[in-house]
Amino acid sequence: MTTLDVGLGARGYTIHIGEGSIDRIGDVLNGTSSRRAVVVTNAVVAAHHLGRLKASLAKADVATDVVLLPDGEAHKNSATLLDLLTRLLELRVDRSATLVALGGGVIGDIAGFAAAIYQRGLSLVQVPTTLLAQVDSSVGGKTGINHPLGKNMIGAFWQPRAVLIDTDCLRTLPDRELRAGIAEIIKHGAIRDADFFAWLESSMPALLAKDGAALTHAIHRSCAIKAAIVAADERETGERALLNFGHTFGHAIEAAQGYGAWLHGEAVAAGMVCASRLSERVCGLDASQSERIASLVAVARLPTAPPSIEAARWLDLMGRDKKVSDGSIRFVLLEALGRAVLRRDVAAADVLAAICG
Ligand SMILES: NC(=O)c1ccc[n+]([C@@H]2O[C@H](COP(=O)([O-])OP(=O)(O)OC[C@H]3O[C@@H](n4cnc5c(N)ncnc54)[C@H](O)[C@@H]3O)[C@@H](O)[C@H]2O)c1
Ligand SMILES: [Zn+2]
Repeated sequence: MTTLDVGLGARGYTIHIGEGSIDRIGDVLNGTSSRRAVVVTNAVVAAHHLGRLKASLAKADVATDVVLLPDGEAHKNSATLLDLLTRLLELRVDRSATLVALGGGVIGDIAGFAAAIYQRGLSLVQVPTTLLAQVDSSVGGKTGINHPLGKNMIGAFWQPRAVLIDTDCLRTLPDRELRAGIAEIIKHGAIRDADFFAWLESSMPALLAKDGAALTHAIHRSCAIKAAIVAADERETGERALLNFGHTFGHAIEAAQGYGAWLHGEAVAAGMVCASRLSERVCGLDASQSERIASLVAVARLPTAPPSIEAARWLDLMGRDKKVSDGSIRFVLLEALGRAVLRRDVAAADVLAAICG
């Protein structure tokens, strides 16, 4: 078991990582004044992992209610949010309670947003159960829901009190979901840490085989990279945007294919290969380093090329990405493995050439 502190001053918190860390939930709540927990989860996750969580809370004498939400991105919306808020009111939950989000990024984002706005703010503990949620969505405090006019368009920054990352949860996770999380881990190495990237190159078989020690190291390093970036730029006025490496292309792929056809991590994986090629063209990334990114994506059995999309549609979809602020498309590019930069001055011809490989 390892821990990691997120340095956000009064809003700072500890991430606990390792096999069996769910069993620490009782101790974590015992360290606060909260004697009541409301666990927000879904039926799939509850069937596998709720028992252990409840046992730990019971042992710590924390009164516990459970609210089940429907499973899936399609339900990350205002109707589900309102149902959750209604349940909290019916249960007469007050601000002394702690909301515990047990699930993937969908549960974490909805429950986190409910915690941010219910009675102007409840304590939140994130217990992420997908690899993507463990290395990405549970860290950094972004919460929210989708709107019919755009994904993640309604939300708030709301930092948790603690994050419990239990690698045992990954045993029940489908392999495709595991690989989607690995895409974000590769991203963290690519933008910030060439040594970690090299470690991933030698450790990918162990990660794919769900080796506990390898997963713990990869999650710890990933969270440390994300936490450092978030600590420097909590509200994404600058550096935090580097976490979007591969995402401008990736979001376009997701939108073109219809959300859900490609998992987010799969689209990001192909997007990182495109962004690496673009980096070769516009900021001097060495071709051999770009090739290493494509190879690692392939070894992780993630897509290395985007689906076929017309040139005009690519530009249209990328222009719609919410990361566009002043009309020009903003790209996260690499000068070298581990060294990411933001660039706006990229010619459409270079973008399209990078997509075609
Ligand atoms: N807040 C952020 O900073 C941030 C960052 C990245 C992504 N996100 C959001 O995260 C969401 C995607 O998260 P996700 O990839 O975790 O998807 P998800 O929450 O839909 O989980 C994927 C599937 O796996 C199931 N599942 C979860 N844990 C399991 C387990 N241990 N065993 C078996 N099945 C399990 C879920 O029920 C679901 O069916 C998106 O909505 C995205 O916008 C948020
Ligand atoms: Zn992502």
